Amino acid sequence: MRSQIEADVSHAIGPVPRRLFGSFVEHMGRAVHTGIHEPGHSTSDSRGFRGDVLDLVRELGPTVVRYPGGNFVSAYRWEDGVGAERPVRLDPAWHSLESNRFGLHEFAAWAAAADVEVMYAVNLGTRGIQEAAEVLEYCNHPGGTALSERRRATGADRPFGFRLWCLGNEMDGPWQVGHKTAGEYGRLAAETARVMRMIDPGIELIVAGSSGPEMPTFGEWERTVLKHTAGLVDHISLHAYYQEHDGDVDSYLASGAGLDAHIRAVADIIDEVGAGKIGISVDEWNVWDQRHWNEVEQPRLTAGGWRHHPKIIEDTYTITDAVVVGSLLGSLLRNVDRVTMANLAQLVNVIAPIRTEPGGPAWRQTTFHPFQLVSTFASGVSLRLTVGGDTLETARHGRVGIVDAAATIDETGYCSVFLTNRAATSATDLSLRIHGARLNLCGSWTVAPRSGQTRHTTNSAEEQPVRPVPLRDAAVTHEPEGTVITAILPPLSWTVLRLTPVVRDA
Ligand code: AHR
Repeated sequence: MRSQIEADVSHAIGPVPRRLFGSFVEHMGRAVHTGIHEPGHSTSDSRGFRGDVLDLVRELGPTVVRYPGGNFVSAYRWEDGVGAERPVRLDPAWHSLESNRFGLHEFAAWAAAADVEVMYAVNLGTRGIQEAAEVLEYCNHPGGTALSERRRATGADRPFGFRLWCLGNEMDGPWQVGHKTAGEYGRLAAETARVMRMIDPGIELIVAGSSGPEMPTFGEWERTVLKHTAGLVDHISLHAYYQEHDGDVDSYLASGAGLDAHIRAVADIIDEVGAGKIGISVDEWNVWDQRHWNEVEQPRLTAGGWRHHPKIIEDTYTITDAVVVGSLLGSLLRNVDRVTMANLAQLVNVIAPIRTEPGGPAWRQTTFHPFQLVSTFASGVSLRLTVGGDTLETARHGRVGIVDAAATIDETGYCSVFLTNRAATSATDLSLRIHGARLNLCGSWTVAPRSGQTRHTTNSAEEQPVRPVPLRDAAVTHEPEGTVITAILPPLSWTVLRLTPVVRDA
């Protein structure tokens, strides 16, 4: 297989927002309890925050974390997680018991410790305008009112100052507690947005888009909701989960093209409706074996009765999954002209790059690596690329290039190129020409099956054989108009090339 890629450092798609590297912690399964919070764990501090998890979170590098849901938020009472009284409640979304031992103040403190911005979701399922106004006042109003003084008395003298607020979650989904039609939700979101802006004009609001492109209401939902909320919200959410269907690895490896099309479809609706400057918040994206959840896990969970933090969707990821996560990150980078932020769903235990054993260690899943490398190296502007060469016909995403690519260059001239070889069984000869810059290769990292591994190889608490290794076959030549990099991309692989500007001799 062959692929030729052309870039020009003066042709940018747009700046790479740091918020592109967000993640998500929901009160679901073991994301919070025995995930980020486990009092008594050997690495936990006096607040119960697991130190080993915080270390891995800092290494992973998320910039924003969405909280507290997800489906959970649609029946949640935020007051239950504040103050001395912490009632145990039923969580209908995940058929679980919620202890509420971890709540708003704990999350604000954890986010500060993890050095991430908070994206807070309000309940527009069982609750509405009043609750949203109250939780915002509690969090962001300096003092002198009952709610803000309650926050101060609870230990947070200064306002939390959360800037990002989600107006509910996946309200189009029939599974959602308080599910609504687009018209019902659009009106509620608009009125909620109006009062929230009165209370704090500095916030940014995210209105809920469809929960997936396969929803029968996809498109109409966005049109209706945006007609109601245009001028009142800043972003519309897009949720996208991918999985391998019936062994169709070609389609799975082309998921990045699926996300490109999904983002473009939502962008077109924003333009068609004339909704103005609305960003797309891809605030749930990942790979997730939903068939296993629907057919096996969910019936088992419901039959098992109400339990505290049961194991839910702790998917153990393979090398293939890591390659797909890398390609989805590539799609986000290619679409920075419309995508203003994105959240890998989720962060710990629940379809997550970080797993924990209760009382035991925290460890890196295969998908940890592409996220960590992109959050570290993608900065500056995303470059417009022309990709030619061999192609692949896929059942789900049509004809796609054999290589999926994205690239960034920062103000100091460092360039990073992110490449997915979608050929499941063949290596691909890559020729990458970057016009307008003399660059040298200063690092490379590849995730691919290595000797003794298959595409199904996973990491575990005991051993982590899947990690990035340097790409062996890469070379750089300089031409008058730029730099040419040649490389052999292994079959089914995801690679980062890090390029440094050549320092001219004096
Ligand atoms: O991330 C898991 C779940 O997926 C979220 O709670 C929900 O919003 C989505 O359907």
